[in-house]
Amino acid sequence: DTPFAILGTGSFAPERVMTNADLADLVETSDEWIITRTGIRERHIASEGEMTSDLAAKAAQAALDDAGLSIEQIDLIIVATVTGDMPMPATACIVQAKLGARPEAACFDVQAACSGFIYALDTAWAMLQSGRYRHAIVIGAEKFSSVLDWSDRSTCVLFGDAAGAVVIGPQPAGSTAEIRGAKLYSEGGNTNLLCIPGGGSNHPTPAAGDPPRHVQMRGREVFKFAVREMKDAARDILEQHGVSPDEVNCVIPHQANLRIIDAIAQYLELPVDRFFVNLDRYGNTSAASIPLALDEARRVGRIKPGDLTLFVAFGAGLTYGSALVRW
Ligand code: ACO
Repeated sequence: DTPFAILGTGSFAPERVMTNADLADLVETSDEWIITRTGIRERHIASEGEMTSDLAAKAAQAALDDAGLSIEQIDLIIVATVTGDMPMPATACIVQAKLGARPEAACFDVQAACSGFIYALDTAWAMLQSGRYRHAIVIGAEKFSSVLDWSDRSTCVLFGDAAGAVVIGPQPAGSTAEIRGAKLYSEGGNTNLLCIPGGGSNHPTPAAGDPPRHVQMRGREVFKFAVREMKDAARDILEQHGVSPDEVNCVIPHQANLRIIDAIAQYLELPVDRFFVNLDRYGNTSAASIPLALDEARRVGRIKPGDLTLFVAFGAGLTYGSALVRW
């Protein structure tokens, strides 16, 4: 059986950059507070007419170009997002139209918040392994600025907009590239720690007194959960595949907070420079964060053929997961 591999990566971020100093004009905060608590210096923010599907389609096209495939070869498109263009249809269908994919391509969204990309990757990989699909585009894309309360300093400083994508398909001849494994987890007892409480079927028609339609978060509790569960998810998958942490050339963690990444590096007893970090320039882009960082890591030469990469994420749900990829 030919294994499946990541054949190409791509990413896209909106042009507009919002710095910590810009945020200090909106809410009572400072560059110093944001940098020391999170590591974030600036983030990209989409313009009004720029939709999640626009970011997603640009990242996907870049990934296709990188893989050297044409859109006609794609028979599956999965978009991981919590900020789709509309509640219905799936943003993946809008992306399909923007890319000009064939009608035989299956297109749907996956919602697992910041873990969404790993969920979508595992879903696509399983569908490819079934033998019924051959080439998939897996996208993480968010216009997270659209669900932020811009008067709440405890959340609005943390997030940004972007998209990242990978193309997966059969391992090319002579290559060692391979998706080695993935593992997904959810703890539904903790939905209230991080959520967008309004806007769903509980409150279909906006009315006075409804819960807000923006992100609410109990930051300290989420922080502790993130460290504990990302560390376990990383350990589990390495153990399952008989890999010692030291054999991992590059870890691409969900980019939420530098202090969370430092803590995981300590637990895994890995030098922190083994972790690729770009949250200083993008903030937390939710489902886009891992494929966005992955694409940059490849472009700057941090991932080479034969390398082993570990993805690890957590997000609302609460969800978490990990994946191991050979290049
Ligand atoms: N600027 C200045 N002060 C602030 C800001 C701000 N932007 N935000 C909060 N503060 C204040 C608080 O009001 C509080 O003041 P008080 O002591 O007078 O009450 C003080 O700073 C400390 O607040 P804490 O919340 O205790 O600060 P903490 O050190 O925990 O850092 C943070 C907050 C950065 C949010 C941290 O808890 C964190 O990173 N948590 C994880 C969040 C995360 O990663 N979320 C992404 C989830 S992924 C997804 O699925 C969307």
